[in-house]
Amino acid sequence: MKYVIPALFLATAATAQDDGSAGTSPDRGAPDIFADETITGTTGAEIYGNVCAGCHMPDGQGATGAGTYPALADNPNLEYAAYPITVVVGGLRGMPPLGPLMSDEQIVAVVEYLQTGLNDFEADATAEAVQQARPEDPMQTTGEH
Ligand code: HEC
Repeated sequence: MKYVIPALFLATAATAQDDGSAGTSPDRGAPDIFADETITGTTGAEIYGNVCAGCHMPDGQGATGAGTYPALADNPNLEYAAYPITVVVGGLRGMPPLGPLMSDEQIVAVVEYLQTGLNDFEADATAEAVQQARPEDPMQTTGEH
C-alpha cells in the first residue's frame, strides 16, 4: 500500500498533462483518471478496503508503527460528513490528498461507509459537499505548485 499511492499520483499527474485537461471541473478529470488503474470500487466498503484499509486497517482500528494512523471506527470526528470529506479530498498532514484520484460518488460512498459501517452515525455526505471541498485546480491539493 505504501508504494501504490505515490505511483497513483504520478499516473494521475501524467494523465492530466497529456490531454491538457487541467480544467477546473472535477467531473471532466474523472473519466481520464479511471481510464488508468487508480482507485477502484463503487461501494463504500470496496473503496475502503482498496484504499483506506492500507493505512487505517481493515476494521478501521488504526495503527501505530512507522506512522500513526488514527482509528476511523468509533471516531466521533466522523459524525458530520464535512470533516472526513475535507480530509479525503485535501489530505491531512500524514494522509495524502485523494481527491484527484476519486470521483465525487466514490468519496460520498466511502464517507458514508465511515459513518454507517465503522460508526453508528447517520450518513450525510453529498456530492455537492465534495465539490465544494475540491480546490479549483485538483492538482493543487499536493501543494507542490
Ligand atoms: C497513506 C496512508 C493513508 C491512506 C491511504 C488513508 N489515510 Fe486517512 N489518514 C492517514 C493519516 C496518517 C492520518 C492522520 C493525519 C494527521 O492527523 O496527521 C489520517 C487521517 C484521516 C482522517 C481524520 C481522522 C480524525 O479523527 O481526525 C480521516 C477521516 C481519514 N484519514 C479518512 C481516510 C479515508 C476515508 C481513506 C480512504 C479513502 C484514507 N483515510 C486513506 C493516512 C492514510
